[in-house]
Formats: sequence, C-alpha cells, structure tokens
Amino acid sequence: MTIEKEIQRRRTFGIVSHPDAGKTTLTEKLLLFGGAIHVAGAVKSNKIKKGATSDFMEIERQRGISVATSVMGFEYSGYKVNILDTPGHQDFQEDTFRTLTAVDSVIIVIDAAKGVEPQTEKLMNVCRMRKTPVIVFINKMDRPAQDSFTLLDEIEDQLQIQVCPLSWPINNGPDFKGVYNIFTKSLKLFDPSIQEIEEGLQFEDVSSAELENHIGDDAETLREELELVEGVYPEFNRQSYLEGNLAPVFFGSALYNFGVDELLHAFLEIAPTPQPSTAEERVVKPDEKNFTGFIFKIHANIDPNHRSRIAFAKVCSGLFERNKVYTHTRLGKNIRISSPTAFMAEQKEIVEKAYPGDIIGIPDNGSFIIGDTVTDGEKIHFKGLPSFSPEMFRYIENADPMKSKQLNKGIDHLMDEGVAQLFTSQFNGRKIIGTVGQLQFEVIQFRLEHEYNAKCRFEPLQMHKACWIESDKPETLVEFKKRKHQKMAKDKLGRDVFMADSPFILQMAQDEFKDIKFHFTSEF
Ligand code: G4P
Repeated sequence: MTIEKEIQRRRTFGIVSHPDAGKTTLTEKLLLFGGAIHVAGAVKSNKIKKGATSDFMEIERQRGISVATSVMGFEYSGYKVNILDTPGHQDFQEDTFRTLTAVDSVIIVIDAAKGVEPQTEKLMNVCRMRKTPVIVFINKMDRPAQDSFTLLDEIEDQLQIQVCPLSWPINNGPDFKGVYNIFTKSLKLFDPSIQEIEEGLQFEDVSSAELENHIGDDAETLREELELVEGVYPEFNRQSYLEGNLAPVFFGSALYNFGVDELLHAFLEIAPTPQPSTAEERVVKPDEKNFTGFIFKIHANIDPNHRSRIAFAKVCSGLFERNKVYTHTRLGKNIRISSPTAFMAEQKEIVEKAYPGDIIGIPDNGSFIIGDTVTDGEKIHFKGLPSFSPEMFRYIENADPMKSKQLNKGIDHLMDEGVAQLFTSQFNGRKIIGTVGQLQFEVIQFRLEHEYNAKCRFEPLQMHKACWIESDKPETLVEFKKRKHQKMAKDKLGRDVFMADSPFILQMAQDEFKDIKFHFTSEF
C-alpha cells in the first residue's frame, strides 16, 4: 500500500472526559467492537480510586496499567484506528494536555445526568486552542438524564462550541427506548438485555405511522423534537467540524454498548486523517517523503530494577523504519531505533514500519525529553507542547545530604518525564517545583525515594502564577528583571519566568510594565 493510502486510512484520536463520565467504558466498547479485545474488563481503568489502597500504591498500579493502555491500535473495516488514552485524575491533567497534541481529533464523553463538568471545560479549552475537531458522546442515557435540549444548551454555553446532534434519544432512564440516527436516518431500539450490535431500522420518513409500532406514544414526541432539532441546529457540515467549529453529538449508553457503533461508524467517516504539524521552522505535511516525529510522553522506571523508559513518539511525516539511522535533533546525534514497539490490540510488539498518525514506543535510557524531535536529518522543532503555569508551588530541599547527586538526577528525570515543572530562583538558586495538584508532590517524593534512593522535603511557598515574559524592547526586560530580581526564576530550558506572589502583584507588574507580555503558557 502506498504511504498516501496508509495516511488516508488512519484515525488517531483521544477519548477524554471528566472522571466517571464513562471514558474507560466507552474505550473498552470501541475496542471490543474493533475486535481489539475479546472480553470486557480487559481495559483497566487508570483512574486513581480512593479507598482500599494508599494513593501511592494506586499510582504505581496505574502507571503500570497506563503503559499498556497508553496507545491502543486496531484495524477495523479497512481503517487503522489509534486511540490515545489520557489520565483521568485532574492532578495529571498536563499529561492529558500533552497527549492531546498527538491526536488529530477528540471524542468528549459527557454524563447525561451531570452534563458539563469542570474537567470537561478544561479539556475543551485545550481542544479549542489547538482547533482540534471534537465529537461529543452523551453517555448513560439508560439512567435518568437531563433534558436533551438543556444538555445541548449547556454544551454550547460552557464549552463554547456550536453543536449539531447526529442522533436523538427517545426518552431516558427506565423509559429509554433508543435513538434515532439523524445521520443515517435509522431507528435503533434499546434493549438492556441485548448487548449485541444490532442493525438499525431504516426510517427515512419519521412521519410514517410505522414509527408508532416501534415506540408507541413516544413517536409523536420524537417527531416534534426532531422538527425542533432541524429548526434550531445547523445542518452537519464536515468542514466546519474539521475546523473545530462544530461538534457533532451522539447519545447512547456505553455500558450497554448502545450507540457505540453509530459513534464509531460516523467517526471513521468524518474524523480527520493525520494532519499537518506545525514546527518552528515550517509546517510539516504527513505525506512528505522524509520521516519526522516528536516525543509527547515518557514513561519511566516501570520496573525499578531496570532503569527503563519508553518514549512515545508520534509519526508526523514520512515512513518510519526500524534500524534506520535518524537524527535526534536536540542532541544533534544519530540514533538507530532497534526495537520500536507498537501497541496493537492487547499486544505490545516490535514494529518494522510506522506511518504518519501512528505512535511508536522507543525504549530509552534517558536521552529523550518531552518535545524532542526525531527526523531524517532536518533540524526542526515541533510546536504545540506548551507548559502551563502550575497552580501550586513548593521549594524542594534535600533531606539526605549524602544523596544530593541521586536527588538531582531524580529531579532531572522526573521533570524530563513531565511529572511537574522545575524553576530555579535567580535570586537564591533554590529549586521550586510547580504542579497542578497536591498529588504530584506526593508522587515526586515517593518516586525519588523508591526509584532514586533520595529523600526530599518540600517547603511552603506562597505563589500565584509563573509567567513567561516577553518584550520587543530588550531594555524594558532588563529593567524589569532588575526591579523584580527577587521574584525571577529560570525554567528548565533556561527561560526567564516571573513568579508572581498574588493576583494583585501580577496586576501591578502588568500595569507598570505595559511593554512586557506576561504569558501563562511557555509557548507563545
Ligand atoms: P471514566 O473512565 O470516565 O472515569 O468512567 P468509567 O468508564 O470508569 O465509568 C464510571 C462508572 O460509570 C462505572 O461504574 C461505569 O460502569 C459506569 N458507566 C459507564 N457508562 C455507563 C452507562 O452508559 N450507563 C450506566 N448506567 N453506567 C455507566 P462504577 O460503578 O464506578 O465502576 P464499576 O465498578 O462498574 O467498574
């Protein structure tokens, strides 16, 4: 098959949701459907369950699982589907954001009773920023749900995206009868005792009295609602979806495998093929001859006895071949990747070739960091892997003076992996760790001790935001840094960062230095 054909048949996407909305269940049903797994329960939830075990054990368990489930590929109906898994816990949301840089589209799962939840909003913000096409799956229709129009209003308001229902539910909860598929004009009846995929009944004309035979009195309501849907929502426009301006919506119940096949079929038909990737130097198209790829995720020390890591690379262009000599652009070094792995179905296997849209796992002993580029020789740097300003900050101190080398090495590795962000104060040289949630501090402490034999202590630090600063006027930057030298730090790549103690201090600095731009992500 030509590389062009391989690109055309690839669909690389992520499923995201607020915890508990049904991401794991839907992923599993898609995999079952695609024949990638054969028994339910094979996909372990990677969420951190509170309760029985301590959080740390849970994190370790989860890290083990998430290697296996990080990328799940399967062949279905001539397509090669790559699902990228994202951590559910909000303290690891940066990991999710980074994974979203490697996908071409996203399915957002929403709980029909709870509607849009805080994490859904944050995830959508990232999609919007990157103009990622989004499909919405409204899940758990077998349970009492909010009114469908109310849900769609909420999505439009809170997620700030125009919606276009492609299926419409007939009731919900105990009275849930099924969905009418607007896209294919067919009726699918819900029967909780049957979880097999059944063909929908073709129903071009819902005004037909035949509809009453299937759903009784609900037929009239369905007709009225469909009329309203037609009047209120725009017709589906694929271009608009691909540009990230319109989200098709499906209703269903992942648990009962209901509505999942409609979702998958529509997804395969409309979702984008691997898209061009923007590098600092130029835009890289998937069908270019030369191979390029970037590292978006690193998994380290799964087995503490072997300091092993897997770097996950997304193929952006060209054909990747095992054992070919490529360039590690940051190090300016030649590398030969002898055992790249791919994740097909439940198996991790060595791959000979990979195409744009595919994800390969590269065994690594510390030469990769997140954002690294591997190419056929061209020196390019892919954009789109921003660091966001952390929300919590602590000084990190060595708690065992005999082990400072181990500590520094451990901190370095964990930061390369993207566990948290490190800043170094320009004033006193102290190291500051920035995270999104409390759990990350605990993970760092635990992993430093168990994997690096080093002990650390955190000291409280009152800090509001880390801002990357930029200005067209170098002299203004010099002046700013002089005036704020107690609050200046460097990030891991040596960029200047202003550490603002409070929203008030930040506002004052912004008012006073109008020529300086304060950025809350590292990429601007
Ligand atoms: P997540 O990955 O988004 O966090 O959610 P997950 O799939 O783990 O689902 C969360 C809970 O919701 C699970 O129940 C799951 O069985 C249930 N669920 C998912 N989809 C549906 C659905 O369509 N209908 C109904 N009624 N329930 C659904 P749990 O009790 O928390 O976990 P478990 O012990 O059943 O695994």
